[in-house]
This record gives sequence, structure tokens and C-alpha cells, in this order.
Amino acid sequence: MTALPPAFPVAVATPEVLDRCRALVRPALEEAVGRLHPWVGEMAAYAFGWCEVGGALTAAPGGKGVRQALAVLGAEAAGAPGRAGVCAAVAVELVHTFSLLHDDIMDGDATRRRRPTVWKAYGTGPAVLAGDALFALAVETLAAAPGGAGGLRVLSAALADLVRGQADDLLFSSRPWTGPERVRPEEYGAMAEHKTGALLGCAAALGALLGGAPPVTAEALDRAGRHLGIAFQVVDDVLGLWGDPAVTGKPVHADLRERKKTFPVLAALDASGPAARRLGVLLESDGDAAEAAGLIEAAGGRASALAEARRHVAAAQAALAGVPLEATAAAELRALPDFLLGRDL
Ligand code: IPE
Ligand code: MG
Ligand code: MG
Repeated sequence: MTALPPAFPVAVATPEVLDRCRALVRPALEEAVGRLHPWVGEMAAYAFGWCEVGGALTAAPGGKGVRQALAVLGAEAAGAPGRAGVCAAVAVELVHTFSLLHDDIMDGDATRRRRPTVWKAYGTGPAVLAGDALFALAVETLAAAPGGAGGLRVLSAALADLVRGQADDLLFSSRPWTGPERVRPEEYGAMAEHKTGALLGCAAALGALLGGAPPVTAEALDRAGRHLGIAFQVVDDVLGLWGDPAVTGKPVHADLRERKKTFPVLAALDASGPAARRLGVLLESDGDAAEAAGLIEAAGGRASALAEARRHVAAAQAALAGVPLEATAAAELRALPDFLLGRDL
């Protein structure tokens, strides 16, 4: 692909608010990606679901666009001008996609959203490079925006947290499932807040900040985004164990095989009773993943995870309720968790 055409086909059917935010952000995101080296730009467009390998246009399902929606709605809720929300949205979507490209290499995952991951499709070196390019593009975009210096500080802090969370996530994989060296659910909480919550918090606060919102408003939006991010990560863990791969686009039980310390497993191992004990023995002997998933459920790991996610959604709602926000955007923000995490959570 030599240059990105002006408009890519829009991907999946999603609720109106996500569509509205995606449509607002897409031209600026395309413009930014169009400035990359053409080969690197193609990898980025592939990651966004805009094209196939080779550059042919497609409407593959991209992400839900949670971060861009948070950025746009956060800015609107704080009464910031529209361009502040769009600029924040472009920066966080670029950083998010960068982190996924590198995460799939770190996790050894071959599929994402039902398609080969970028490193599988293009090679590991090229995927690392495309991730670097997206990161640099995010910095460039934000640096050029009014209020960009403050925005860059917030984005760098979120990235430092993300790196911290990814480091713990990787280190936890080599810790034992049981015994004194085991990973505790509280350690998981910090890891999930860092690896997933920080960027969602940044997304929610960044547009508001660029638009000159008072610090107390930006802080409340950041807190809400962080809680939503933890809830999101816990639900992602649940889907990794019991989700339908045709829907999640990821292979089932991959987290268990990689010895990822996900919330449902840690909660199950922390419980007392025969299922928890059998689970510990099974995991330590690298036993069957499907059997382990059954024991995790029997030991209450799934129910605990959903309760934990609900607790964080409630904390996100409380953070939003604590500051004055523009009514329509605030209502749209409050409705996001229901759609993202499922109404029966
Ligand atoms: C991804 O965490 C977090 C970042 C990319 C920073 P996971 O590895 O748990 O997420 P998925 O399941 O690959 O999306
Ligand atoms: Mg991963
Ligand atoms: Mg990971």
C-alpha cells in the first residue's frame, strides 16, 4: 500500500455512541497513520482493521474503540472543545494499538479479533517497528496540540504505569501457583490497574485536560477510567477462560497455558475447599486446561471475578458522580460499562 486512501470502510456494528466517537476520530487517525512510512502504515492500518496484508481495503472488526470514546466523552463531559477530545482520542488509540502489537509478541498470541496478529502476519521485527512508529506518532500528535506539554506528561505517566503492569504480568508467569511465592489477588489488582487501567484513565482525562478542564475534573475522569479498566481486564480474564473463541477472537485457555496469573484463577486458589486444592495440584503439574477451568469455576473463581468487576464499575460510577459534568456526555459515559461488560455483570 503506497498511501492511505481518504476513507476506509467502517468496521463493526456497535452502539450509537461508539459509532459517533469513531466517526469523529477516524479522519484524524487516518491522517496521522497516512504520515507513516507506507509499509509501516500498512501494518498500522492492518492492526486497526482497515486493510488486509498487502493493503487491500477491508472492514475487518477493529477494536470497540473504548479509549477513543472515553477521550471524546471525557472532553465533552468537561465542556472542552471538540478538537481537544479528538486529539486525545487519536493519541490514546495510537498508544493502545502500539501496546497491543508488542503485547501479542510478549504473550506469543497468534490471533487477535479473529485475525493473525501483526507479528504473525508480518514478522516479529516489523511488528516491533510498527509499534514503535505508532508510539512516536502519538507523541508527535499530542506535542502539536494546544496544551500538548501537559498532555504529554499525563500520557507518559500512563505509559510508565503500563510498562510497570506489563512487567509484573510477565514476571507473575514464572511465579508458582501455590505456596508462599504465589501471586496474591491484591498484587493482581495493582498489575491490572497499571497495564490496563492507566491508559483508560488517561483516555478519559486527556481530552478534558487539553480543553483546560480543572484538575479535580480530570482526576475524577482518570479515576473512573482506571476503575473501568480494571473491570475490563477482569472480564477479559473471564472471557479468556469461558468465552467463545468465535466471539472473543482469541484461543481459549491461552492465558492458563502461558501461566498467566489472571483474577479468576487467583481468586479460586485463594478459596478454601476441595476444588481449590485440586486446582493447585493440577496447575502445578501443568494439567489439562479445560479441567482447570472447571475447577476454577467450582472453587468460585468466576463468581469472584464478576463481583470484582462489578465493584470497580460501581467505583467508576461513584467517581463520575463526584464532579459536575455536562449532562448528556456524562450519561453516555455512565452507560459505557453496561455495554462493554455486559448487562448481566
Ligand atoms: C494487554 O493485556 C494490556 C496491554 C496491551 C498493555 P493482556 O495481554 O491481558 O490483554 P489481551 O488479552 O492480549 O488483549
Ligand atoms: Mg495479551
Ligand atoms: Mg499481555
